Amino acid sequence: MSIKIAPSILSADFCNLEQEIRRIRTADWVHVDVMDGAFVPNITIGVPVVKSIRRHTDMFLDVHLMIDKPLRYVEAFCKAGADLLSIHLEADHPTRIAEALKVMEAHGVKKAVALRPITSPEAILPYIDQLDMVLVMTVEPGFGGQAFMTRQLDTIARVREIIDAHNPACDLEVDGGINPVTARQVVEAGANVLVAGSSVYGAPDVELAIQALRG
Ligand code: DX5
Ligand code: ZN
Repeated sequence: MSIKIAPSILSADFCNLEQEIRRIRTADWVHVDVMDGAFVPNITIGVPVVKSIRRHTDMFLDVHLMIDKPLRYVEAFCKAGADLLSIHLEADHPTRIAEALKVMEAHGVKKAVALRPITSPEAILPYIDQLDMVLVMTVEPGFGGQAFMTRQLDTIARVREIIDAHNPACDLEVDGGINPVTARQVVEAGANVLVAGSSVYGAPDVELAIQALRG
């Protein structure tokens, strides 16, 4: 499976998003972090910003919803132009997680579930057959620039086993503390989509930083 790089615009200059997205054009996806100040302590951006980004880029929009009860907003993010939505398994009751996935399916948007570090890999089992991606957090969600949690390598390896057994076409994305060193470790453990905020936008040469993550 080829490696995809998804720079997180959380570390970009929000006043110059069009230009900031142009700087990462050699990457594969744009990772958009939506935070509601409830599921996580931080507040970032919402539907109108995703809509504006969509008008200015053809890149694949990978939208990470760190919000409580995501079913309330999934349709709006689909209509705003997301290509893929990740919803957190901890953010609602399983029946409403399943319902949110159905809404994405109906809009032709790719479907992913995300796991906080505390969540067991087996939690993806009820959904795995229909997923396009599983997102394993390698930091506690909420902020960019945190240190990679090494113990999440075991979670990545277990999620890779589940994917290979049930739905081998499903992508495995990791998010948090990814730099050229941890990138090698997560790929070794089975990840194939790498989110990186500070190690891309904080680098003197963004293109080189993206290349370094590819290994
Ligand atoms: C954290 C976000 C990440 C964040 C990663 O809650 O989901 O996408 O931007 O930032 P870095 O790569 O700096 O850890
Ligand atoms: Zn993210």
